[in-house]
Amino acid sequence: MDLYTVILAAGKGTRMRSSLPKVLQPLADKPLLEHVIETADSLHSVKTIVVYGHGGELVKERLKHKNVEWVEQAEQKGTGHAVAQAMPHIPDEARVLVLYGDVPLTLQSTLDALLNCDRSHKDSIALLTAMLDDPTGYGRIIRDSSQAVTHIVEQKDANEAELEVREINTGIVVASSHCLRHWLDNLSDDNAQGEYYLTDIIAMAVAEGYGVATVSAASEWEILGVNDKRQLAEIERHLQNNLALDLLTQGVTLRDPARIDIRGTLNVGMDSEIDVNCVFEGDVVLGDNVIIGANSVIKHSTIDSGTRVHPNSIIENSIVGRDCDIGPFARVRPDSHLLDNVKIGNFVEIKKANIESGSKVNHLSYVGDARLGTNVNIGAGTITCNYDGANKHLTEIGDDVFVGSDTQLIAPVKVGNGATIGAGSTITKDVPASELTLSRSKQITMSGWTRPTKKGK
Ligand code: UD1
Ligand code: CA
Repeated sequence: MDLYTVILAAGKGTRMRSSLPKVLQPLADKPLLEHVIETADSLHSVKTIVVYGHGGELVKERLKHKNVEWVEQAEQKGTGHAVAQAMPHIPDEARVLVLYGDVPLTLQSTLDALLNCDRSHKDSIALLTAMLDDPTGYGRIIRDSSQAVTHIVEQKDANEAELEVREINTGIVVASSHCLRHWLDNLSDDNAQGEYYLTDIIAMAVAEGYGVATVSAASEWEILGVNDKRQLAEIERHLQNNLALDLLTQGVTLRDPARIDIRGTLNVGMDSEIDVNCVFEGDVVLGDNVIIGANSVIKHSTIDSGTRVHPNSIIENSIVGRDCDIGPFARVRPDSHLLDNVKIGNFVEIKKANIESGSKVNHLSYVGDARLGTNVNIGAGTITCNYDGANKHLTEIGDDVFVGSDTQLIAPVKVGNGATIGAGSTITKDVPASELTLSRSKQITMSGWTRPTKKGK
C-alpha cells in the first residue's frame, strides 16, 4: 500500500520570538520543515501533505522547490483537526504517517521500524513512543494488565496515577487511511483544552478491536520538538554530533568532534583530517589525505587529495586540485579553479581565477579575474587591478612567469610565457615573453642632504 505522509506545521511558534515562522527557523542552514520533508522523501512517501497555518505564504514560498501538497488549517483546533484537513487528499487504500514540522531529527531507521511493525503485525495503527525520565507535558501511553495499549491521555487531562507513566506519545503515528478517516470523523473536543485530539483515535481503534503496535525511539533527541531558540540550539548540537559521529565512522579524523559544523553535505575520502572549529556549507567534497586547518570555512567547493588548507582560510564555490597548500589566512572566492601543486599563502585573496599547476601566490596579494599558467611565481603584494570602476577586466599570465613583488597589473593585460617583471612595476601594457619588463622611477641619492631638526632646540 502506498505511503502518504502528513506533516503538521500549523503551529504559531510564539516562543521563538521571531518574525520568521517556526518551521522556517534554520537547523544546519535548512528550514526545520525541510528536514522533515526530506525524512518523508527518504521513506518513499508517494505524497507528502503539509498542513500549514501561520506564516503560510512565506513557508510555501521558501519551500516551493519541494514536491509537497499544501493544505491550509486556518484555525488551529487540535492535532486531530489538523490531520483531518489532509484526508480529502488521501485515498482509502493507503497508509498515513503523521510527522511534525518542528520535530526534525527522527531517524529514517526508526520510522522504517514503525512502518514495518504496522505492516508485519497487520495492526492498523502503530505509535512511536519514548521512555522519558521526565515525561512532563507529553501525552502518556496507558496500557492494560497485559501491556496492550488502551489509550493516550494528555498531560492536562491526566490523573495522578497516569502522570506517573514515563512512556510518552511522540505524536508520530501510522495508520490505514480508511480507518483514520473514520476515526477522525468521530473525534470530539470535549477535553481540558477544547481541541480535537489526534490521540483519541487510539481508544477508538482499541474499542473496534484493533491492536495498537508501538515502537520506541532509541534516543530522546529523535522525538524532540523545537519551540524556542534554546531548543533550536540544543537540536542543532544533536544534529551536529550525529554528523560528526558519521564522519568518524567513515574514517575521517576529527581533532574534536564537538567542534565542527556541517551545514550541507560533506563527503570526505580516506585518511583526511579536520582540525577544530571548521564550518562546511553546501556541498563540499574532500579527497583523500586532505588536511583542513583550524577555523577554516569551506563552502560549495571540491578539494582534491593531498591538499592542505592551513588555519583560518576561507574557500567558496571553488575547485582546488591535488597537493595544494592554501593559507593560513587565505581567501579563495567564487569561481576559482586551482590545479595541482598550487600554493596560495597568507593574506592572499583569489577571485574568479584559473591557476595552473605549480604556481605560487604566497603573500599578501589579490588575484582576481585572472588566468595564470603553470609554474608562475607571483611576488608579495602583487595586485591585479581588475576593476576600472565600471567593468571587470582579465589578466592573462603565461607559463613560467616571475612577477616581482608589489606589482600592479592593470587589466586587461597579458604577460607572455617566461617573462620576468621587476618588483614595484605598474604594468599597463602587454608584457612580452622571455624578457625582463619593469616600470620604475630611477633611484637617486642626494649627497650631503641633512635631516631637518626641531626649531628652538
Ligand atoms: C501532542 C500530542 C501529545 C504528544 C505531543 C508530543 C495531541 C492531542 N497530543 O501534544 O500526546 O505527547 O504532541 O510533542 O496530539 N498542530 C497543528 N494544528 C493544530 C494543532 C497542532 O498543526 O491545530 C501542530 C503544531 O504545530 C505542532 C504539533 O501539531 O507541531 C503538535 O501540537 P501541540 O499543540 O504542540 O501538541 P501537544 O499539546 O504538544
Ligand atoms: Ca508540543
